Amino acid sequence: MRVLITGGAGFIGSNLADYLLDMGCSVIVYDNFDDYYSGKIRNVRHMLDDDNFRLLRADVLNYSSLLNAMKRVDVVYHLAAQPGVRFSMANPEKTIRVNVLGTLNVLKAALKAGVGRIVDASSSSVYGNPVYLPEDELHPTNPISVYGASKLMAENLCRIFHNEFGLPVVVLRYFTVYGPRQRPDMAICRWVKAILRGDPITIYGDGSQTRDFTYVMDAVEGTVKAGLAGGIEGEVFNIGSGVRVSINDLVKMLIEICGVDDVKIKHEPPKAGDVKDTHASIAKASRLLGYRPKVDIREGLKLFVSWFRENLVR
Ligand code: NAD
Ligand code: UGA
Repeated sequence: MRVLITGGAGFIGSNLADYLLDMGCSVIVYDNFDDYYSGKIRNVRHMLDDDNFRLLRADVLNYSSLLNAMKRVDVVYHLAAQPGVRFSMANPEKTIRVNVLGTLNVLKAALKAGVGRIVDASSSSVYGNPVYLPEDELHPTNPISVYGASKLMAENLCRIFHNEFGLPVVVLRYFTVYGPRQRPDMAICRWVKAILRGDPITIYGDGSQTRDFTYVMDAVEGTVKAGLAGGIEGEVFNIGSGVRVSINDLVKMLIEICGVDDVKIKHEPPKAGDVKDTHASIAKASRLLGYRPKVDIREGLKLFVSWFRENLVR
């Protein structure tokens, strides 16, 4: 099977690329190494010698290079994006440009190239503040961040291309993913870095907000299944752990796992665009994809901390 991963040099995308190469797929990573954060080449360097691997340094805003790259591709995993809820509130134009126009280009090129399946990486941010928990896929979508709005617009484009043009698209709503190669702007990565350096950590708000944290290999397995399962075109799936944890409890666990005493915790006002709670119902993904997350939060945090200690590079 020949697959193309947009954003394949990033956190989730590079873990997905490793997994698909191990499965024996031919993998094309399509990524512009965007300067939102640096060091992504480390995520894919070890793949460069693999005959089944090809790296294309290119932009999803470039339609003709996307179209060229998609020739004879069976599955496109579209993960390229401008991520970051908080970033999107200060930089709305870039978020909308990459996430909306970039996705439009991917869908247009996939339709033209006759790709067999497109898996779109969406986000729990499309729900906004929950009206009930856990959130199933029918929960209202009222995003409160520009990022969430951009991902919802991208989802709408996927639905339109599926319904009106028959494009075989599947949408995945990831819930706060963590693990090796996590983006440096995300909470767990920031906190582990600070704790291990002896710096204070910052919590936005009082820390009572909750998140469904998803271990990256669980998210990757759900993503691979979404590229393969039959009869799911046009469907939307939550990809979470199915468990929610408060930020205060998470911080306690991290401090314990890092084994550092006297960590100073600073509080700052809550950030614009930050939802109060997320909690995924994973019943649909379990039923139709056979998705079964395996790594619980304590085990996942231990795996992340030991990866971070070995790769303390940034
Ligand atoms: P990431 O930033 O590590 O990966 C995104 C990749 O896309 C990067 O390698 C970047 O260089 C690339 N990219 C950015 N703009 C591009 C462009 N114009 N052309 C080509 N490539 C471009 O982020 P991630 O956390 O791995 O997220 C992957 C996907 O999952 C994104 O679509 C994100 O919105 C979504 N998502 C992530 C999370 C999470 O918790 N990490 C949760 C929900 C959804
Ligand atoms: C994450 C990803 O960054 C988004 O790309 C993704 O779409 C989203 O999950 C999702 O699930 O859809 P977020 O939940 O904000 O967004 O992830 P973190 O950066 O890990 O933040 C988790 C919580 O910790 C938030 O409440 C945030 O405000 C808080 N936080 C973050 C702090 O208190 N301190 C920090 O230094 C960083």
